[in-house]
Amino acid sequence: MEPTSNEWPIPENPEPPFPIVTDFCDIVFGFGRGSAELGIPTANVPLQQLPKETQDLKLGVYFGFAILKPMSHEETTAVRKDGRKVAYNYGKYLSKSSGDLDILPVVLSVGKNPFYHNVIKTVELHILHHFESDFYGAQVKFNLLGRIRPERNYNTKEALINDINHDKLVAKEVLSKENYLKYERQLA
Ligand SMILES: Cc1cc2nc3c(=O)[nH]c(=O)nc-3n(C[C@H](O)[C@H](O)[C@H](O)COP(=O)(O)O)c2cc1C
Repeated sequence: MEPTSNEWPIPENPEPPFPIVTDFCDIVFGFGRGSAELGIPTANVPLQQLPKETQDLKLGVYFGFAILKPMSHEETTAVRKDGRKVAYNYGKYLSKSSGDLDILPVVLSVGKNPFYHNVIKTVELHILHHFESDFYGAQVKFNLLGRIRPERNYNTKEALINDINHDKLVAKEVLSKENYLKYERQLA
């Protein structure tokens, strides 16, 4: 198979500052456009719960592995700034038999999302797996193994979606190689 083209050559092995591995951190709500407008759901994690090396990363798209952990907590509702409600189920509906709790490949955006004119840096994970329900309030532990590209601004939603789809292909391909696949163990 032809390797997926990538303007940013990915080294054969992770190179410093990678690998970076996090502790379990909370999945909080973002602006909620990823899922609704782009069809690409993302899990937002608070920057302050991440290791310093993550906070220092240049804006861009990264890849690694992630594992989810449901929390035992009653379902609650949070309210976004714009008044919309978000149901926090703390990962109650994550299913072991569907593979939701496996170590899964992930693409991450460390960015200010210029397309949406955000001002603060956010870290969002798009896990390469189909989930039947969302899991706000659950926790996620992940590693970062490399960088795919810088963050860009786009004129259209479609161009952003195209690039994210390409990011997913690059991540899948790299993470299936033994030199990267072995870092799954960091989360076991
Ligand atoms: C893999 C990936 C790559 C992304 N790349 C960019 C980008 O280059 N430029 C950008 O403005 N936003 C980028 N985004 C962020 C999306 O714009 C973001 O997911 C969207 O703002 C939804 O966030 P929300 O759910 O907090 O509303 C990327 C997101 C992901 C998951």
